[in-house]
Formats: sequence, structure tokens, C-alpha cells
Amino acid sequence: MKKVCIVGASGKLGQYMVQHCLNRGYEVTGVCRERSVGKLEHYIGQITLLPGDTNHRAVIQKAVAGCDGVLTVLVPWGRHHYSTGTAQAVLDYARPGARLIFSCGWHITRDGQDVYPASLKRDEILAHWIGRLTRLIDLDDQVEACRRIFASNTRWTVVRGSDLEEGESQGLPVWSRHVGDPILASNITRRVDYALFMVAALENDELIHEAPAIVGCQTPSALAHQDQSSRIRQET
Ligand SMILES: NC(=O)c1ccc[n+]([C@@H]2O[C@H](COP(=O)([O-])OP(=O)(O)OC[C@H]3O[C@@H](n4cnc5c(N)ncnc54)[C@H](OP(=O)(O)O)[C@@H]3O)[C@@H](O)[C@H]2O)c1
Repeated sequence: MKKVCIVGASGKLGQYMVQHCLNRGYEVTGVCRERSVGKLEHYIGQITLLPGDTNHRAVIQKAVAGCDGVLTVLVPWGRHHYSTGTAQAVLDYARPGARLIFSCGWHITRDGQDVYPASLKRDEILAHWIGRLTRLIDLDDQVEACRRIFASNTRWTVVRGSDLEEGESQGLPVWSRHVGDPILASNITRRVDYALFMVAALENDELIHEAPAIVGCQTPSALAHQDQSSRIRQET
């Protein structure tokens, strides 16, 4: 992995990903909205920045050219198919064989086998209706974007984030295939570590065609699972 594009580089998740990529010595191209260029001024000289909406096909085509990996922040803003436009442009223009990593939340399901806590389902229904009434967000469009990614024959990974919090890194989050698996019960991840997982996925081929749901590695549910697996190892 040498050259990486970050689509949505100016957001909180995007900026953490920029830093993790630079730490690994990758050459970084970032895409962000024109009005947000200033948020990345501390990276001037360290990254190439292409201003533009992330669903702008010509901008994405230019940004992903020659990249070995593309990290995409998929956001359901507005009612003009922002998520699908962004995902489709990345799928269409990334070079064949490039690693494509997309962000979303636990609400996305790949195979319908996720078991959601009642509180999460309630929040999702609320966000759905608020989005419809205010026309500010479109969760259905993020669902459709992920459906297209899952159906594509690119080397994709869709990273499904739990609730997020700020704070210092605790290390690489743990993951499971389905929301509802006990290891994920704590439902919290440091945002900096969500970014770390996205960037680490670029070089983890085991995650190709997976939609890992993640949780912080120091959370009670992750630690309990670790204790349980080491107990099983000792008993065998
Ligand atoms: N927040 C959570 O609790 C949570 C939980 C699980 C998963 N996730 C996932 O994590 C990812 C990042 O989420 P985040 O909450 O951490 O936010 P974030 O990193 O701050 O990213 C927000 C992104 O949305 C862009 N944006 C904001 N307003 C916009 C608008 N009106 N039109 C177009 N783009 C707009 C921002 O660009 P600018 O810099 O240009 O504003 C930025 O790239 C998403 O994929 C989300 O589904 C979030």
C-alpha cells in the first residue's frame, strides 16, 4: 500500500484517518467539500487536497487515480442521494484491485442476521422520520449505497461503527460479523480507533468482502470475551 485516497477527509473520522495514513508513510490524497478545506490546513504540504463534494464524479475520478486504497466516509446528508453518489463514483473509478474501505453505522445489515438492541432500533426509526421531515438526512440512501457495495466485485470492506466517543486511542477495535454478538454489547468505540480500524483494513485481506461491526478493545464486552477465550485456551 503506497498511495491512498480519503474521501471525506475533513470530518472528524477523516482527519484521524489522514493522521493514521501519514503515520504509516502512505502518500495521501484527500477529498472534502470546498467550504471545509480550512479544516485541513495543518496538513498543507503533507497531503494533496482536491476540494469538491464527495459525490462529484469528476473529482472522485481524479482523486482515486493511481491509488492502491480508498477510504470513504459514507454520510447520509441531504435528500439528493449523497451516499449512493459517493459510493458509486468510488466503485466506478477506483482502479481494479484497489482496496476499498467504507464507513457506516451498525444500522446497516449485510445479511439480515443482526440482532439490534431495542434502543438502537428506536433511534434508527426516529432518525429516519426526522430525516424525512427535515430533509436533512436520508438513511435509506446510505442503505442503498451499501447494497451496491455488497453487490460489487471490487475488493471492499464496509466497517460498521458502534456509538462513538472522543478520547485517546485504546488500540485496534475488535469486531464481529453480527450486531447482537456478545463481544459487541458495550456499543462504544473511540473515534480515533474507528479510524485506525479503517486504515488497518487496507492491508488486512481477511476483511475483504466482510462488513465487520466493531467495538473498542478495552470495553467491558470486548475484555469479557478476551477473558473467556483465554479461559477456554487454558482448559484445552
Ligand atoms: N456519529 C456516530 O455516532 C457514528 C456512529 C457509528 C458510525 N458512524 C459513521 O461514521 C462515519 C463518520 O461519522 P462521524 O459522525 O464521525 O462524522 P464526521 O467524521 O465528522 O464526518 C462527517 C462527514 O460528513 C460531512 N458533512 C457534514 N455535513 C454535510 C453536509 N451537509 N453535506 C455533505 N457532507 C456533510 C463532513 O464534511 P465536512 O468536513 O465538509 O463538513 C464529514 O466528511 C459515517 O460513515 C457514520 O455513518 C457514526
